[in-house]
Amino acid sequence: MYKLAPSLLAADFGIIKEQLAKLDEAKVPYLHLDIMDGVFVPNLSFGLAVVESIRKYTKMVFDVHLMIIEPERYIEQFAKAGTDIFCFHIEATKDAKATVDKIKKCGMKAAIAVKPATPISEIKDLLGELDMVLVMTVEPGFGGQKFMEDQMEKVKELVKLREENNYKYDIEVDGGVNEETARLCEQAGADVVVAGSAVFNAPDRKLAIQKIKG
Ligand code: DX5
Ligand code: ZN
Repeated sequence: MYKLAPSLLAADFGIIKEQLAKLDEAKVPYLHLDIMDGVFVPNLSFGLAVVESIRKYTKMVFDVHLMIIEPERYIEQFAKAGTDIFCFHIEATKDAKATVDKIKKCGMKAAIAVKPATPISEIKDLLGELDMVLVMTVEPGFGGQKFMEDQMEKVKELVKLREENNYKYDIEVDGGVNEETARLCEQAGADVVVAGSAVFNAPDRKLAIQKIKG
């Protein structure tokens, strides 16, 4: 059974407090927060001020997905803003090991994300130190894209590596998850699934959450 992490990117920011209360009511465990800088990805989203200001309205685990170059520049600030899981892209940093160490030193869980074209071998030396690995099932940057089913091979590979080496990380899938593709994530062995448009654009959000949870 996996955990659902709705992605705030698809929410209506004008009524954000209300939207968070509804997720809490539906007992959603994680909130996925997509930070984009317009450089690592072509899109811009929101930053520290938003994370900090919504932190007081919910106790959900803040799963912060940084799609920014040199994410190590902001580790301390995101810890202070109330981040629980700091997830950065392996393609965006020069010293991933130092980044992981600093995230942990600042009291957060450390996660690394891989784009669709990045193989798991790129992060193999760090797997023993990670709390979570994020497998992207779309090109990062935008919500509402089509799920790349071939990325489930990476999820299976991560499950196998975790078993063989007694690693502890959770496996998260992000991009194009809906009630159907969530089943594929579950079968492959995902522990956390992110869903933006499938949750926030649904006419009945509560029902959508139940369906994605399975
Ligand atoms: C894409 C983001 C995703 C996005 C998912 O770069 O990382 O978290 O919000 O949106 P959906 O679920 O609509 O694909
Ligand atoms: Zn994301």
